[in-house]
Amino acid sequence: MITRDQAWKLLTEKMQNQNLRRHCLSVEAVMRALAKHFGGDEEKWGIVGLLHDGDYEFTKTDPGSHAKLMANWVRELGETDAELLEGIESHGWFHQGKQAQTQMQWALFCCDELTGLIVASALVLPSKRLSDLSISSVLKKFPQKSFAAGVKREDIAMCEEKLSIKLEDFVRIALVAMQSIAPEIGL
Ligand SMILES: [Fe+2]
Ligand SMILES: [Fe+2]
Repeated sequence: MITRDQAWKLLTEKMQNQNLRRHCLSVEAVMRALAKHFGGDEEKWGIVGLLHDGDYEFTKTDPGSHAKLMANWVRELGETDAELLEGIESHGWFHQGKQAQTQMQWALFCCDELTGLIVASALVLPSKRLSDLSISSVLKKFPQKSFAAGVKREDIAMCEEKLSIKLEDFVRIALVAMQSIAPEIGL
């Protein structure tokens, strides 16, 4: 399997926007925490999270190839791990009307949008710091549709049905994971 260093090198070659990189780092951190929660392969889940949006700057006008292109780049590095490759590709299935299949794929699906809600919730704090953000304030923002209106609450809420994790616990796992990399994501 490719190393985290190789994955980071690939990401930074293909993605220049710093905020997008920070989004990828956030999803990586949450995926690692979710792998730990489920006893999954933390390195693999983390790399899937890190790379899931890595082709965005190349595919934004062609959503049908989003995540597929990244999986191809990873394949070109010699990667043969089907779970890893399919994990990355699964991020684009939404555009083909296809749902996630495995626990890892559902974890990616549900946490992708949650990282956005957490960032938005931190940015309205006076300090703008993740360390000052509480689980309860994220949960308070959850039903407020006008707040971070682009964040798909219904995707996040699937954590209960698809991952058997209560929303409150899902927010806690994600917030703690993102707090642990706060300096890297500028929060
Ligand atoms: Fe995406
Ligand atoms: Fe994403």
